[in-house]
Amino acid sequence: MFKTIEQSFQVSYRYKLFFTEGLFQVENHLFRDLIRSYKDEPVKLLFVIDSGVAEAHPSLKEEISTYCEKYATNLSHTQNIIVQGGEACKNGEEHVNQVLDAINDYAICRHSFVVVIGGGAVIDMAGYAAAIAHRGVKLIRIPTTVLSQNDSAVGVKNSINFFGKKNFVGTFAPPYAIINDTLFLKTLEHRDWISGISEALKVALIKDLDFFKFVEKNALKLSKRDMEAMQYTIYRCAEMHMHHIAQGGDPFESGSSRPLDFGHWAAHKLEHLTNYKIRHGEAVAKGIVLDVAYAHLTGLITEQDFNRVVSVFQNIGFDLSFPLDSDQEVSQLLKGIEEFREHLGGKLTITLISAIGVKHDVHEIDEDLMKEALNLVNEISNLKQFNFAN
Ligand SMILES: NC(=O)c1ccc[n+]([C@@H]2O[C@H](COP(=O)([O-])OP(=O)(O)OC[C@H]3O[C@@H](n4cnc5c(N)ncnc54)[C@H](O)[C@@H]3O)[C@@H](O)[C@H]2O)c1
Ligand SMILES: [Zn+2]
Repeated sequence: MFKTIEQSFQVSYRYKLFFTEGLFQVENHLFRDLIRSYKDEPVKLLFVIDSGVAEAHPSLKEEISTYCEKYATNLSHTQNIIVQGGEACKNGEEHVNQVLDAINDYAICRHSFVVVIGGGAVIDMAGYAAAIAHRGVKLIRIPTTVLSQNDSAVGVKNSINFFGKKNFVGTFAPPYAIINDTLFLKTLEHRDWISGISEALKVALIKDLDFFKFVEKNALKLSKRDMEAMQYTIYRCAEMHMHHIAQGGDPFESGSSRPLDFGHWAAHKLEHLTNYKIRHGEAVAKGIVLDVAYAHLTGLITEQDFNRVVSVFQNIGFDLSFPLDSDQEVSQLLKGIEEFREHLGGKLTITLISAIGVKHDVHEIDEDLMKEALNLVNEISNLKQFNFAN
């Protein structure tokens, strides 16, 4: 015999993504209004700033202080802490502890905010720290790269890398709000300007032919840093990511399918294998083209569609080659398939496409064919091919 008490409740989430320019210019009320909409009294704020952003925007810290002083009735500024920018901040606990220390030192509670300004890596890391401090303090994300503005910062996940595996430790924790400020994009290195476009092509390829056509048509403009083309690319990509999270039926990924990770099994493994020398978005471009090549070799898509996908990535300026030096490294890469399954749990589900704009899930990967696909991708990128017979 047994007794049962059943528990059931629902929690709904609502958050906004704002688009602006010059967020901390005193005449811009957006940030003040956002905090005031939470509570019309001074609210404690801890700013966590990416070191790359702090370097590229030397007056940012002062602008934040001036802004908070001007709106002191709503904004109680505690400190700006600078954290290591880039993937290094996600490797190990050191940087998470730096943010936790500051949350403790400045008595940031659940009625205060951590405001993180930076690329996707810093946002993932600081978001994780905010999610575990006091079991969750509020987070405002201010993403400063293309990839973080159109993908990584608009969702519900945060993480750090552990055991040599991408995003092994982390939580699902929706933010209070996200604010995309165009001005930050102007100081990006060219590779960071380009790399985030791969996530836009990712959603376009699995969901939206028209968006693919837009990126295809504007590939050259995007490669030449045309801000208007980039703004639409970011807007549409972010919109599609947010729509998928809210309407896709699995915001906290308890199933085994994760279409927004199209191209990511290889990307995550390659990031690790290259010791994070390549950016996430650069690895995603390679991973997508590899899976599209595989889809072509299995007969899912035409050669014409395959070439079309390759051309758009190349016209934007992506290097699609896989910089692997040995057969062992290729085997390592292929281990990414099982690691990808393990991360989500359940049955292997790899998203491919059956046409541009149409996703197609498969539950098995033919490794020999995947190796052929790898050679095909390296061939079109003029890189040496592997002789798998050795
Ligand atoms: N949480 C998610 O759902 C999710 C989704 C996709 C990707 N990600 C993660 O996002 C990370 C990649 O993010 P990323 O592509 O933004 O790269 P990044 O965060 O590594 O930043 C790249 C470099 O740009 C610098 N930088 C940032 N903003 C700048 C600016 N405005 N001007 C000049 N330099 C600037 C950084 O200091 C860093 O050196 C990866 O760790 C990836 O796993 C997370
Ligand atoms: Zn990604």
